Amino acid sequence: MTTHTLPGKMIDQRSFSAQSTDVWSSHLVRGSEISDALTMLSDGPCGSDGRREALVVHPSSVEPGLGLSPGIAVVFGVLLPGERTRPRRHNASSFTMALSGSAQARIGDRAFNVRARDCWNTPGMRVETILNNGTEPFTYVSYSNSPLLRKLEVFYEEYDPAEGEEAAADSQIASTYSSKIASAKEAAGGAIPVGDSGAMLLPYEHLIDPDFVESRPLLWQWDEVAEHLGIVRSLKTGYTGRPLWCLYNPATGIRNGTTFSFFATITAAGPNFTGPAHKHVSAAINYILDGSGYSIVDGVRLEWGAGDIMLSAPGWAPHGHATKDDGAVILTIQDHPLHIGMESLIWQEDIKGGPILTLGSEAGFGTNLATVQNKTTA
Ligand SMILES: [Fe+2]
Repeated sequence: MTTHTLPGKMIDQRSFSAQSTDVWSSHLVRGSEISDALTMLSDGPCGSDGRREALVVHPSSVEPGLGLSPGIAVVFGVLLPGERTRPRRHNASSFTMALSGSAQARIGDRAFNVRARDCWNTPGMRVETILNNGTEPFTYVSYSNSPLLRKLEVFYEEYDPAEGEEAAADSQIASTYSSKIASAKEAAGGAIPVGDSGAMLLPYEHLIDPDFVESRPLLWQWDEVAEHLGIVRSLKTGYTGRPLWCLYNPATGIRNGTTFSFFATITAAGPNFTGPAHKHVSAAINYILDGSGYSIVDGVRLEWGAGDIMLSAPGWAPHGHATKDDGAVILTIQDHPLHIGMESLIWQEDIKGGPILTLGSEAGFGTNLATVQNKTTA
């Protein structure tokens, strides 16, 4: 096929063919490498942002927006006793798990006292400060959607907003503009139908004041999460789902997210649990908290153990995971809610010819949980 260039920097598309997705390889970083990096960060000076952080970068990642997957940035960080990060806000949303030590995480108007494996989300444009108020180094792993924003050239970030500026700005906006907003939308009216296909017209006043759900920082304390892991750990090979809980943020609604871009799940799999092979366009990053196992990703076998982090499911790569004799506890981050928002979350539970469904836009899959439970209780 010959490609012709048309006038005005336009490309002739008549010779196109259907395109398949180029898939990054899986990529694993050993826990020992992460420990070494945290030691180096502890021994050196703080960054200008008050943070000691290392970004985990996939070999295929390119600027702008480096990440472990094309849209997910992963950082490991450490704060020494008494250190605090500079107050920062940006329009990326993030999820963080404490790994060791203790600290206070201040996000917007909330303050969480956290220790190992406690998790929190930081919504976009909420000021975050982390203070190590303990006697040991505080370490953490944090995930954000900043790579995607950087690729879109819309990543916004600022430091040291004036004390109370965020709250003051919010209240000022509320008092100054709320009556104008109400009267403007009232004057404009609502959506009106066009034709009989369901198409409608919407006034501009709604575009600059869309309906919203307040997005708040939430805390998932590990002690409470751990109480619920036994029930999923009891599921055995043959269960067609995954033995996990999603750390659910109700503000994300049907996106089933922890943030509006990511879900975070805690898998607790018993010994020698083998999950079914499947694939999805959401990218998955597994951080192994306990135990060991292996994954087959795009035909490649990867052995993993506690402390390792891996791009375990590059978007649309077939993959499956299995534990060894000691089972495993795994934190998984996936950009699943982002894809639901884009109507792009295609998913295939059975890679041997099963249907490809667009989750969040049509009815999805089921599991054999009811059958498995009946067998357990019979
Ligand atoms: Fe998966």
